[in-house]
Amino acid sequence: MIHLVKKNTGGVVQALEKKFCEITGKEQAVFMPSGTMANQLAIATLSGTNSKVFVQDESHVYRDEADAAQTIFNKRLMGLSKGEPYFTAAQLQAAVESLQKDEVFPTGIGAVSIENPVRRMNGRMVPFDELQKISAYCRAQKIPLHMESVSSMHYMRQEYSMHLCLSACGSLPGRYYLRGFSWNQIPVQGSA
Ligand SMILES: Cc1ncc(COP(=O)(O)O)c(C=O)c1O
Repeated sequence: MIHLVKKNTGGVVQALEKKFCEITGKEQAVFMPSGTMANQLAIATLSGTNSKVFVQDESHVYRDEADAAQTIFNKRLMGLSKGEPYFTAAQLQAAVESLQKDEVFPTGIGAVSIENPVRRMNGRMVPFDELQKISAYCRAQKIPLHMESVSSMHYMRQEYSMHLCLSACGSLPGRYYLRGFSWNQIPVQGSA
């Protein structure tokens, strides 16, 4: 999928992608024309054939992307923490464990996606220490973590993929959007 996306890029786009790699320390970056596309592609790629993706109930992915994850990519979005800007590591763990206990035919957890800051919640943030706990839990469980709308360097270290919006978070003027995601060493669930 990434190969197809990158095929027609070059020149200035390639230079931007290279810059993203330098800024984020990731091995690959892909420029996408919209944030929705960046999120959807990241989630679909990270999840592989696993169908469930945990998201904030108030996130753009859950509420504002026309159910693309479900209808195009066959993912089941699992909304957590309705009415709150974020879920905690403990809440995530409880949700994962309850699935493992209660579902008769396990289909696998593909990814966790976290929007930060949360647009629908007036830009409220996930506290950094909570994000570190979520990240540690995801790593231990080998669940890829996608960060959406990353706005700060130290948040970039916590995840496998990210979506950067330079107009919203990087103080660039007007409606200039740069969306990208990158990742390295995505763990495979079930591997040692
Ligand atoms: C947090 C967040 N994520 C994703 C998007 C989607 O971006 P786009 O409209 O470029 O698809 C938006 C759009 O405003 C957004 O606020």
